[in-house]
Amino acid sequence: MRWVAIRNIRPDSVLAQPILDERGRILLARGVPLSDNLLVKLQALGIGSVCVEDAATDDIIGKDFISPRIRQQMLDATYTSLNELVTDTHVRYVRGSRVRQKLRPLVEEVIGELRDLGGAEQFGTVYLSDGELYHHSVNVALFALGVGLGLKLSEEQLLDLGIGALLHDVGKLRIPEKVLKKPGRLTDAEYAEMKLHTQFGYELLLNDHELHGPARLISYEHHERLDGTGYPRGLAGSDIHLFGRITSVVDVYEALTANRVYRPAYLPHEALELILGGGGTQFDPVVVEGFVDTISIYPVGMTVELSSGYRGVVIHSPRRQTQRPVVRVIENRDGHPVDQTWELDLSRELTVQIIGCEI
Ligand SMILES: [Fe+2]
Repeated sequence: MRWVAIRNIRPDSVLAQPILDERGRILLARGVPLSDNLLVKLQALGIGSVCVEDAATDDIIGKDFISPRIRQQMLDATYTSLNELVTDTHVRYVRGSRVRQKLRPLVEEVIGELRDLGGAEQFGTVYLSDGELYHHSVNVALFALGVGLGLKLSEEQLLDLGIGALLHDVGKLRIPEKVLKKPGRLTDAEYAEMKLHTQFGYELLLNDHELHGPARLISYEHHERLDGTGYPRGLAGSDIHLFGRITSVVDVYEALTANRVYRPAYLPHEALELILGGGGTQFDPVVVEGFVDTISIYPVGMTVELSSGYRGVVIHSPRRQTQRPVVRVIENRDGHPVDQTWELDLSRELTVQIIGCEI
């Protein structure tokens, strides 16, 4: 199996992994043939790539780093929690929200799964829907927990980090759709409005009496920058809570690798280089190091385009070598399948670069 951009899918391709909607419900099941009609619909939903069966990559199992059941449950719980927080304000004010209670067992289970994984190579992003709120929130929480585990946070800290990260953008549900989903660059006034999602989020989370302070602070501080250039308060250094410093790195990576109407997605290694470049100025260097150590930016199964003109699929993505994975070459310069596939270890073949990937 391999991840292929929808624009490059060959006729008669078959889905190798289910596609989940924003609530984690199965939109299309594994084994479904992808007709032209379906591909148009998927594109309209903002889905850029899907995982398909493919003879040359039959033996490659590009697993998500978290079990499908947990990802589905996380999406569903995030969807219901965020929407519960923005509706029914009066009831919540009187009785208090129950978001922490609802998310706690799930986040505990996630921490358990990530711990078992122990920083295995599969810790990558699953690109499902470009920048869409619920998928984004789940990915941010998973990466933040990965970094938190690397930094050896306590169980209680990890719980607050995971819950707070799932809820970090809840304030966006208070931003008018015309600004939030504007198909283009925001004007200065619209950008100022968008920035308010941090304060709105913090206010909404104050309604859940059981949430701990650090979990709430993530919504308030995830756009702050170490050097004081962030918003809403322009905090600097350790005045920004560690959870805010972790979430800011993860959130930027997630945002850069998503397609936007006004710019294509950055390649994962370009996004990572921007973050590395911001270590010590915009971002906490310890967090950046923890992030680089945790993620696999070119996960197994991703189709990549090489500077040599060939295309291949990632078959091994070792830790600390994530920018230069091992690739199986499957297509030649003309886009035709090669007679005999071969493996290329990009950590050794330094003259060959990844110049594109199917996300
Ligand atoms: Fe945000």
